[in-house]
Amino acid sequence: MSLSGCLFIVLIAADFFIPMRQLGSFFHIAMNGMAASDKIFRLLELPKAKIEGTPERFCAGDLCLEHVSFSYDKERIVLQDVSLQGKKNQLTALVGESGCGKSTIASLVMGQHRVSDGRITIGGVPVSQIPEKERMSHMMYIGHDSYLFKGTVRDNLLMGKPDASDEELWEALRKVRLDAFLQGEKGLSSELTEKASNLSGGQRQRLALARALLCDSDVYIFDEATSNVDAESEDAIIAQIYELSETKTVLMISHRLANVTKAGRIYVLGQGRIVQSGTHESLLAEGSVYQKLWNAQQELEQYGKGGAQA
Ligand SMILES: Nc1ncnc2c1ncn2[C@@H]1O[C@H](COP(=O)(O)OP(=O)(O)O)[C@@H](O)[C@H]1O
Ligand SMILES: [Mg+2]
Repeated sequence: MSLSGCLFIVLIAADFFIPMRQLGSFFHIAMNGMAASDKIFRLLELPKAKIEGTPERFCAGDLCLEHVSFSYDKERIVLQDVSLQGKKNQLTALVGESGCGKSTIASLVMGQHRVSDGRITIGGVPVSQIPEKERMSHMMYIGHDSYLFKGTVRDNLLMGKPDASDEELWEALRKVRLDAFLQGEKGLSSELTEKASNLSGGQRQRLALARALLCDSDVYIFDEATSNVDAESEDAIIAQIYELSETKTVLMISHRLANVTKAGRIYVLGQGRIVQSGTHESLLAEGSVYQKLWNAQQELEQYGKGGAQA
C-alpha cells in the first residue's frame, strides 16, 4: 500500500471511532440518569412523617425549646438539654463558635429533624404537631445561601409576596440596600441565572433577605444571613431585622456579636449546651465565654479599621 493510502486509512479510522466514543459517553449519561431517577423514586416512596395526635393549627407566639437534646447519628450528641425562649416582639439571638450546634437548632425548629429528647413549641403548640404546609407558610428560615431561581428579580421577589406592587418590591430592595445596584441594571426586570450565580455572594444574600422581608411570616430564623454582606449594608439590614422583631418572633443566629448587642435576650451556645444567657450588658459583666468572644472580635474589628485607615 502506498504512503498516501496508509495516511488516508489512519485519518478515516479516527473518524470511524468518533460515533463509538459518543455512544460510550451517552451510555454514561444514561446510567447517571437512571441512578438519579432511582434516588427520586426511593424518596417518593418514603412514608410521610406521621403527626402524633391530632394535627394542630399554627399558632403565632413565643418559640420555646424545652430540654432539647439531639443527635444526627444516635452516637455523637450535638445538642444537650438546650432550653431557650424566643419571645414574640423582641429579638432573640443565638451565638457561639462555629460547629457548636446553632444551625442544628434552626433545623429542628423548622421541623427538618425530630428532637431526640425534649420538645419545641411555638405559641404553645409542639412543632411536630403542626402540618408541614402550615409550618411552611408561617415560618421562614433565611440562611447564608438561600435559593434564588433563574428568572427576573421581580419573579424571585414575588415568591415572597405574590400580590406585591412594584413600589413594595422597590421598598424591600431599598431596605437591604440593593436598590441602587439594580437601578443601574434593568431594575426589577434584571435577569438572574440559576441560583443567581451572576450576582455576588453579598448581593444574593441581600436579595434573599428582601424576599424574606416581603413575606408575612410569623416566625423568622436568620442564620448567618448577612455573613457575606459588607459592614455598612449589614448594619442597615440588621436594623431592619430589629424592626421586624417588634411584631414577629425572630431568632437571629450570628457569629458577629456586634449584631446582637441590642437583642432582648442572647443565648450563648458552647459545644451543644447553653452556657450563658442574658442581655449584652449582663453577659459582659458575667465575664466567661461571651466576654472572651466579644473581646476577641472587638480586637479584630479595631485592627481591621486601623488597617483600612492606614
Ligand atoms: N446533616 C448533618 N449530619 C451530621 N452531622 C451534622 C450535620 N449537620 C451538622 N452536623 C454536625 O453537628 C455539629 C453542629 O453543626 P451546626 O449546627 O451546623 O453548627 P453551627 O451552625 O453552630 O456552626 C457539627 O459538629 C457538625 O459537624
Ligand atoms: Mg451554622
